[in-house]
Amino acid sequence: MVKIFETHAHYDDEAFDDDRDAIIENFKEKGIFAVTNIGADINSSENTLNLIKKYDFFYGAIGVHPSDVDCLEVFGDDIKAIKTLEAMAMSSDRVVAIGEIGLDYHYEDTDKPLQEKWFRKQLELAGRLKLPVVIHSRDAAADTVDIMKSEHAEAIGGVIHCYSYSWETAKIFLDMDFYIGVGGVLTFKNGRKLRETVLHTPLDRILLETDSPYLAPEPYRGKRNNSAYIPYVAEAIAGIKGISVDEVYETTWNNAVKMYRVNDKNI
Ligand code: NI
Repeated sequence: MVKIFETHAHYDDEAFDDDRDAIIENFKEKGIFAVTNIGADINSSENTLNLIKKYDFFYGAIGVHPSDVDCLEVFGDDIKAIKTLEAMAMSSDRVVAIGEIGLDYHYEDTDKPLQEKWFRKQLELAGRLKLPVVIHSRDAAADTVDIMKSEHAEAIGGVIHCYSYSWETAKIFLDMDFYIGVGGVLTFKNGRKLRETVLHTPLDRILLETDSPYLAPEPYRGKRNNSAYIPYVAEAIAGIKGISVDEVYETTWNNAVKMYRVNDKNI
């Protein structure tokens, strides 16, 4: 039986407001037996907790995305802001990671020092709670590596989600014992760099993800994404590596169970 672990999705997103329950209730029929819903700010972290309460095959990540760190500044007290995240992360044993956290230099008005501050503080929190991290890194490879090294991220572990850099850079993350998150971009015409990374990255270091509602794979590119589209990505990985799609499902399932430290006897 096919068992797929969706390692990165945002089902709290308003894009699912009209049919969230209907979509989620269909997942097991589509082979989706575990989902990690990822927080991106305080609100979505709270909504992640609500989702994992409602669905027993949902896991959660609590954290603030680099483009949303203003919501942590609003506390006016860094310690209080981190304590708030910590309390959320400790509130359920199905919170399995801190994330998504990181750096995103895509937009010109980026406040780099502010992103760095909260990236470091959330890495520190993950280390303290002994939870892996889900890292978002866009147009910021060098600074991401520098900060991860100085915060000893290799002792924390986690995934570089929606991996977008070169194979050369991937080797640095793999050396730090991180996983590479692979989603819809793999099927895009301009996904050549990611296909090269997937070719060289050992299968036992790859996680399947969607980033739903974003980044739907071909032939749904531009439309709303959901975890039932993961087979398009899994088939692309199988094609690139010359292996069976069942091997992709089985190995990536084990990878996700190991990284998120989930007891898969409960799934
Ligand atoms: Ni995401």
